[in-house]
Amino acid sequence: MNIDYSEKIPNNVDLAGNKTLQRALEHWQPEFLHWWGDMGPEGTSDTQVYLRTAVSVDPKGWAHFDYVRMPDYRWGIFLAPAEAGRKVNFGAHKGEPAWQEVPGEHRSNLRRLIVTQGDTEPASVEQQRHLGLTCPSLYDLRNLFQVNVEEGRHLWAMVYLLHAHFGRDGREEAEALLERRSGDPDNPRILGAFNEKTPDWLAFFMFTYFTDRDGKYQLCSLAESGFDPLARTCRFMLTEEAHHMFVGESGIARVIQRTCEVMTANKTDDPARIRALGVIDLPTVQRYLNFHFSVTMDLFGADVSSNAATFYSEGLKGRFDETKIDDDHLLTGATYPVLEVREGRLASVQAPALNALNEKLRDDYIRDAAAGVERWNKVIEKTAVAFRFKVPHKAFHRRIGPLAAAHVDPDGKVVSAADWEANVDRWLPSAADRAFVASLMGRVVEPGKFANWIAPPARGINNQPIDFEYVRFN
Ligand SMILES: [Fe+2]
Ligand SMILES: [Fe+2]
Repeated sequence: MNIDYSEKIPNNVDLAGNKTLQRALEHWQPEFLHWWGDMGPEGTSDTQVYLRTAVSVDPKGWAHFDYVRMPDYRWGIFLAPAEAGRKVNFGAHKGEPAWQEVPGEHRSNLRRLIVTQGDTEPASVEQQRHLGLTCPSLYDLRNLFQVNVEEGRHLWAMVYLLHAHFGRDGREEAEALLERRSGDPDNPRILGAFNEKTPDWLAFFMFTYFTDRDGKYQLCSLAESGFDPLARTCRFMLTEEAHHMFVGESGIARVIQRTCEVMTANKTDDPARIRALGVIDLPTVQRYLNFHFSVTMDLFGADVSSNAATFYSEGLKGRFDETKIDDDHLLTGATYPVLEVREGRLASVQAPALNALNEKLRDDYIRDAAAGVERWNKVIEKTAVAFRFKVPHKAFHRRIGPLAAAHVDPDGKVVSAADWEANVDRWLPSAADRAFVASLMGRVVEPGKFANWIAPPARGINNQPIDFEYVRFN
């Protein structure tokens, strides 16, 4: 299934066979490019980047590498191959053939799911817009741009669905996706974490590790959808998402490695001394971790949610690995534990499993995210440094759901407002922490050179050497 790059919009959905849709998307394309020019990576109109581009969606073709001038990147529409005889695999429609068109009665819920997912894609590009100016190396700069162009393509993926299946409202939603802005008080992005700043590279690596992983879990759930075009779109997006999480995991691992090297060479674990040596002390890394983990927890939504139940029962959004789960896929009478504050402490209570689907997805996510944090601990264990990272409790620093009303410390203990205030700078990055990290950020663009606060990667991209010229400036 090759992608036709001779078309104005590269695609594998036979766009040429549907002139109305083709015209509508060709009308949206310059608006997208205008948005990219305004809100995409700053100062890159002449930059050539060694990027991965899909030439087909089969395993051999989706990772083709070459230099691309940033604004000439061929954003396109790629769906994973159709699965013959695919069915709706859960909810009230279980066993019916998967839908190729939107069922009228589920139209507005489906549109809402697609718009919410679609909104996160340009949001992260906006959040990361300034980071190229302070890149720690060409290798990292290239990875940032790879993530950015792919998030741009994920926006295309959702806009294609809106245009192809939702008529006029879909076209209006596609325009609104280019109008909202991350952090804009008047017209913000839909979800909280996507209105936070990504001011420095430590935040960027944490974001790609934790928040892109939320993307993975949302996409996996949507890849189970009874609406087949959505499922196929998400399946292909997931192949790209893996690299985003790799950028985060390896980026943080390299920060940790460099700090441990400096700590060992100077025989110190004093944060002030470590900072004076120009690397990021591990407690600051832990506070960034706490922040990004907790804002990502909120992305899964309220712990008990009737919307989540509806989306599932209607066959629109499944569970993570839905078809691998051995149950009735209806959740009749099933329960699932959620947290409540009772008598000043967290208590686990049983909720109907259908209503607790956000909580279940959050728990699936936590297992995955925590495993990577253990891999960061392995980096420390190889050195003489005594320190361990820990994921905070899922109730820590929540702003959505019933737990938002309580103050919960990273260990899951409910604390008073006064205790929270007294300790918050030990748990979350303070203004001083952020200012320190910002002070380290400088632009390093000589091939093979790395900023002092981060170790080089173990290997280059696509088997290229580490000192390869990953980005060319003209
Ligand atoms: Fe994405
Ligand atoms: Fe991503």
